[in-house]
Amino acid sequence: MEKLKKEVGKKAAEYVESGMIVGLGTGSTAAFFVEELGRRIKEEGLKVIGVTTSHATSAQAKALGIPLKSIDEVSHVDLTVDGADEIDHQLNGIKGGGAALLMEKIVATYSKDYIWIVDEGKLSTHLGSFKVPVEVIPYGSEQLFRQFKEVGYAPTWRMSTSGEKVVTDMQHYIIDLHIDKIEDPATLAHELDCTVGVVEHGLFNNMVKKVIVAGTDGVRIIE
Ligand code: 5RP
Repeated sequence: MEKLKKEVGKKAAEYVESGMIVGLGTGSTAAFFVEELGRRIKEEGLKVIGVTTSHATSAQAKALGIPLKSIDEVSHVDLTVDGADEIDHQLNGIKGGGAALLMEKIVATYSKDYIWIVDEGKLSTHLGSFKVPVEVIPYGSEQLFRQFKEVGYAPTWRMSTSGEKVVTDMQHYIIDLHIDKIEDPATLAHELDCTVGVVEHGLFNNMVKKVIVAGTDGVRIIE
């Protein structure tokens, strides 16, 4: 699995050219992309500016010597490369397994080009086998949790290994929805977008144009 993740991370780095402002995703697959970018900067003299999608990715990029700016310090992002948790045939996806969905969606929104890098196990006919993460403001979040339960979304709090509610980089909680089969991702996204107290959700519908997929028989591109 690590080998597959590394392959797609390296492949995605081939799309980066000198002068670009590059969005750096979060997670174990995106980390291989960031690593390869760091190598190209050091060994090939590639000149880029990175815009990170989490504190964890910022720490990795800094350690690799990748120059960074925040999303508010750049006019645009040329290309963002990120992982994903589940992707359907229309290239709608679920993200946020690493609790970074809010920053990931903001950076992706301002990116001219957006690529996901995944292993084949993330591809699915219908979204929903992966839980839908919902980032919520702590104030009123118990009410929201109850509301999600009432409509049958089987919510769970995202917990840390030490048994605390996970607090995101932007100081919110995560409620994971277990829906099993999402018949209409656009309708669910709209419903969550309109729910008071929800900051962002992990449905990334119609945002990505290219997915680099690693399988046992090699790397392929879905567009
Ligand atoms: C973090 C994410 C990640 O990109 C997603 O969870 C995939 O991670 P990994 O590559 O480790 O499977 O959305 O919020």
